[in-house]
Amino acid sequence: MRLDGKVAIVSGGAGGIGSATVRRFVQESASVVIADVQADEAEALTQLLRKQGYSVTFMPLDVTDENQWEQVMKATIQTYGRADILVNNAGILLLESLVDTSLEMWNRLMDVNSTGAFLGTREAVRVMRANGGGSIINMSSTAGIVGSAMASAYDASKASVRLLTKAAAVAYAKDGIRINSIHPGFIESPMTSGLDEATRRAFVNLHPIGRAGRPEEIANACLFLASDESSFVTGAELVVDGGFTAQ
Ligand code: NAI
Repeated sequence: MRLDGKVAIVSGGAGGIGSATVRRFVQESASVVIADVQADEAEALTQLLRKQGYSVTFMPLDVTDENQWEQVMKATIQTYGRADILVNNAGILLLESLVDTSLEMWNRLMDVNSTGAFLGTREAVRVMRANGGGSIINMSSTAGIVGSAMASAYDASKASVRLLTKAAAVAYAKDGIRINSIHPGFIESPMTSGLDEATRRAFVNLHPIGRAGRPEEIANACLFLASDESSFVTGAELVVDGGFTAQ
């Protein structure tokens, strides 16, 4: 049991990568808080996993809301006594050219993807410092490393997560808090399921491995960074992209 005795919070835990991560973590004996704006899906997953005997709690969270983050941290400590792992996974996608991106769209992308990760990291550091350490995993993207013509706002929001991670990792290493980013390539999930076939194929073709990734493949990367197996890993960017950015 690779996460025995640990307590994890997964933002966006009701979505594709988030729910796979929640499942992977409970299989390894963690207690998990699913924090999401999608109450119905999150509740359904919580009930299902509880029936299977796992320790799971749903807490409503809009990652752009500072007060809600404080509430989730407080409620996690009340429920489980500690917080060892935070996966800042909640995110939204926008495929739009730069010239057609409105200021409103830009701000929304930055609010959810970038500010959400900032607030989560800040609140988790405050709690984990008192705990004596922890692991924070920030879900960036290959889009935080290389640019794409149709995703300026998304790329910028994910690049911000990459450097937020490194800056925070440097600042809080001495507190025993490890902070790393994950950079998935194209993953089959509700986020990408609505794309038309031509767009989907174009994305998949960028991956030398010849297929899209599965949420479980990102969940396994989260598990490594969450567990003590990665005890010397901080400030790292773990690319899980079927070779996309190796080219
Ligand atoms: P998804 O759409 O299945 O899940 C996203 C989750 O975030 C949903 O449960 C949604 O309710 C939640 N969420 C959205 N806005 C929120 C908010 N303001 N507060 C709280 N929760 C909120 O998407 P997927 O694919 O599981 O993505 C998870 C993360 O992985 C995202 O950060 C995404 O940008 C990133 N990613 C996804 C890739 C893909 O190809 N699917 C590739 C690279 C990164």
